[in-house]
Amino acid sequence: MAGSESTNCPVSDELDVRRATDSYQAEFPYNRDAESEVTRREFCNFLVLASGTFFVGAVGFSAVSAYDASRERVFTPAAIEGAENLTPGSAMNFSYPRPEDTAILIRTSSGDFRAYGQKCTHLSCPVYYSKEHKRLECPCHEGGFSEATGEVLYGPPPRPLDKIDVELRGGKVVAFNREVRGNEV
Ligand code: FES
Repeated sequence: MAGSESTNCPVSDELDVRRATDSYQAEFPYNRDAESEVTRREFCNFLVLASGTFFVGAVGFSAVSAYDASRERVFTPAAIEGAENLTPGSAMNFSYPRPEDTAILIRTSSGDFRAYGQKCTHLSCPVYYSKEHKRLECPCHEGGFSEATGEVLYGPPPRPLDKIDVELRGGKVVAFNREVRGNEV
């Protein structure tokens, strides 16, 4: 009988299992068809939870970025070693505020101190001071900047040099602020 059943009407593994567990189904009912429903519900819950997590993360990240952007950078005043010995009409290199933030200090013919970022705002070549022309010049693509303001005089640079505020304190030239300037020229 079993042999003819297996020949004429093959029984699937699942049907075998259902038959074998019929007695247990009576005592511990388990609706297999509902299993997929639960899975769908769980999947939806997961999607909602994941979306919520991403949303909260994005809002938090935006809030932190906005807070950082709204904070003013604080610069620690730093004496520029040897600057007090600069003669009028000369310049020296220094760094401010970090060692990699290269800068140039000029003592103008009238004795004033001016300081700017040393990286040209075109493609970052180092600028140098031309005493003869009273300006900062970039040798890479012939850019020029004002000695008095750091603004672009000619050439391809799109914006002024970074401005570094300096002043004399107790006989020392002290840098105390660095400003990246936009396209206001
Ligand atoms: S890098 Fe200075 S003009 Fe191009």
